Amino acid sequence: MLILGIESSCDETAAAVVRDGRTVLSNVIASQIDIHSRFGGVVPEIASRQHIGAILPVVRSALREAAVGLETLDAIAVTAGPGLVGSLLVGLNAAKGLAMAAGLPLYPVHHIAGHIAANYLVCPELEPPFLCLVVSGGHSHIVRVSGRASFDVLARTRDDAAGEAFDKVARAAGLGYPGGPAIDRASAGGNPRAIRFPETDFGADNLDFSFSGVKTAALSYLNHLDQQAAKSGCSREQILNLPDFAASFQNAVTGVLAGHLMRAAARYPGEPVALAGGVASNRTLRERIQTACAAAGRMFCCPPPILCTDNAAMIAAMGDWMAQAGCLPADDGLDASASLDIALWHREQLAEAGLCA
Ligand code: KG4
Ligand code: ZN
Repeated sequence: MLILGIESSCDETAAAVVRDGRTVLSNVIASQIDIHSRFGGVVPEIASRQHIGAILPVVRSALREAAVGLETLDAIAVTAGPGLVGSLLVGLNAAKGLAMAAGLPLYPVHHIAGHIAANYLVCPELEPPFLCLVVSGGHSHIVRVSGRASFDVLARTRDDAAGEAFDKVARAAGLGYPGGPAIDRASAGGNPRAIRFPETDFGADNLDFSFSGVKTAALSYLNHLDQQAAKSGCSREQILNLPDFAASFQNAVTGVLAGHLMRAAARYPGEPVALAGGVASNRTLRERIQTACAAAGRMFCCPPPILCTDNAAMIAAMGDWMAQAGCLPADDGLDASASLDIALWHREQLAEAGLCA
């Protein structure tokens, strides 16, 4: 099965062609980071307008790089949510138009399920059931993938997503947008135990996350330094040890993520462990979980950074797995949704096809 994937949920316009849910034939991404970094974050209306200009050239490039025409495809898959509605609608309508013109089935894909499916592209042995930590700018979930299109959420964040905390702290530290990669780079050579930041835990039986405490503590630390700097007539830069600050913040966030994920894994003996989402590109997080999996004798899977951040190869892959699971293609009424529960939405998709999760 040859699927064209289209993704436009946030600030990346992406299209990709994937074979059989496992092999990437092309993966084209037009990033808007340079435009949004001027504003310190994504500006929704600008994002939608950028998608409008980029969508068709990106689709054309993806088809050209894969050396396929629309007539060679078996299906199209598109992100239907969650995300910025104005952005989602651009990809969705382009996908509808292409599917209608070429007479192809169109599979709607849940963005988080797409992130998880990036793992199928790099770990040929990986099959459900497995556990996946999904950490991005908008989500921090521990998901058990119980079937091709069946998901159970074991943990979610009660406030900020991990990537959001990275972005806000990086912005306050003057590191720009997106903050995650900047903190990752700035942490090089830093002492992760130099500053003690809180690691919120709701008890052994609860796997939920909370990152507002560590975020606030990091912002307060910077405010305190500013006051000290003002008193002594120097600048913050002169008294902030940036590598130590970045490494300590990162240590607190990745410690909680890795700890809760391994606690979840202990509930499902022998099942593989995977990572997904933009924050999964973080080197410290990858190393910690890889080490923990090796110690626990678990298969560990993690996509390379280009497949962790938003891309369309993951959407095409998930579209393929939905088709294999027996889900139905979308009808003409397919609409975008800003928020969609991954478990409920897939249960509905399966129910519509007369299948059980
Ligand atoms: O998955 P993604 O591209 O978009 C969303 O669906 O949100 O994730 C973007 C997030 C941003 O918050 C960004 O700061 C974070 O992923 N990120 C990282 C790293 N690379 C990207 N966070 C920590 N370390 C990184 N190396
Ligand atoms: Zn994403």
